[in-house]
Amino acid sequence: MTESPKGAAERAVVAEVAGPIAPYGGTLVDRVVTGEARTRLLAEAASLPRIEIPSRILADLYLISVGALSPLEGFMSSADYEAVLDRMTLENGLPWSIPVVLPISSEEEASVAPGDRVALVTAEGDVAAIVDVTEIYDRDLERESRQVYGTEDEAHPGVAAIRALGSRYVAGPVSYVYEGDISGFPADNLTPAQTRAAFDEAGWRTVVAFQTRNPIHRAHEYLQKCALEIVEGLLVHPLVGETKSDDIPADIRMECYRTILDLYYPGDRVLLSVLPAAMRYAGPKEAIFHAIIRRNYGCTHFIVGRDHAGVGDYYGTYDAQEIFDEVDTDLLGIVPLKFEHAFWCKRTGQMASNKTTPSSPEERVFLSGTKVREMLSNGERPPAEFTRPEVADVLMKAYRNTE
Ligand code: ADX
Repeated sequence: MTESPKGAAERAVVAEVAGPIAPYGGTLVDRVVTGEARTRLLAEAASLPRIEIPSRILADLYLISVGALSPLEGFMSSADYEAVLDRMTLENGLPWSIPVVLPISSEEEASVAPGDRVALVTAEGDVAAIVDVTEIYDRDLERESRQVYGTEDEAHPGVAAIRALGSRYVAGPVSYVYEGDISGFPADNLTPAQTRAAFDEAGWRTVVAFQTRNPIHRAHEYLQKCALEIVEGLLVHPLVGETKSDDIPADIRMECYRTILDLYYPGDRVLLSVLPAAMRYAGPKEAIFHAIIRRNYGCTHFIVGRDHAGVGDYYGTYDAQEIFDEVDTDLLGIVPLKFEHAFWCKRTGQMASNKTTPSSPEERVFLSGTKVREMLSNGERPPAEFTRPEVADVLMKAYRNTE
């Protein structure tokens, strides 16, 4: 008897992976301090110099502490920062594309020196972590903007965000003591250790991660389901940290995700959990970063579609796919699954891409996110070829309520 093509494809992918994928750098970092050790650190923090951190830095701090940014154990040294900008690696040669840095204001800098221990506090004044300061160094804003975001344009939301931060960076390992929720969705915020345990429990040896900052539309669903045909599980991993003001808010998106997963996805193949990271809009550089993070969450494959993490016209449609050719894929470990621009095809009556349909442009339903938001603001229903009707209902209700 001959094996079905699907069976063969599935075996081929599974064969690449023996056992769970190792965390990036080999060990899942855990900088979260609990119990009596935490009580002692909080007491110590009362007499330490303080640095107030904005929410996007708190998000990075959290991600470092739970191992999502393994092998980082703290904020980057100047050697790592320079290597990331110059070579797209850490100092040790491991591919890495986005600086993870702790900015400091000039007033704060006066009270901090290498060798000090410093308390990082939230805007509300809660102690979030203690840093062992190893170094304080100048950042190179222009070079960082160009190398990471591909532009120095202040209108770029990622560039604008880093411009708003202090001009020097503090390096050093962190000890995380914050017990508050930083995600907005505590029940859906699994740590890397928890997603790994969930995959193990489900028996998934291969898991594809899907990054998104939008509701799941038909094109997203198509990519996920193509991927699910060749791997065993899907982690729907929406980014719920800071996004730009015209992106759809995370609470509305979560309602969309729950609705579509409930109705249109096989429950035993999909896990929904949030990624409380800030969006950088760094296109290709962020695609690599997103992939590394998902490897730490235990995923073996990562979906990269059109203009991944893009904004405006800063990046080419497939830049975020091509950049994977520049990194050592053996070191990266997680496999990018690259998808062409997908759309509803009237001729074939299904989702398709240039690779799968001969139809002409007039036979294709294309809608931009901007156009859809415009339709929703006008109380118009996005077409079923673009979005599932039940998702459209959630979006229309949310937009009515914000009017
Ligand atoms: S992103 O900023 O998180 O990348 P978005 O939520 O729109 O934005 O996209 C999530 C993923 O789906 C990304 O990998 C993106 O490239 C991909 N994607 C979105 N729309 C399409 C489409 N029509 N065709 C192919 N890939 C797409």
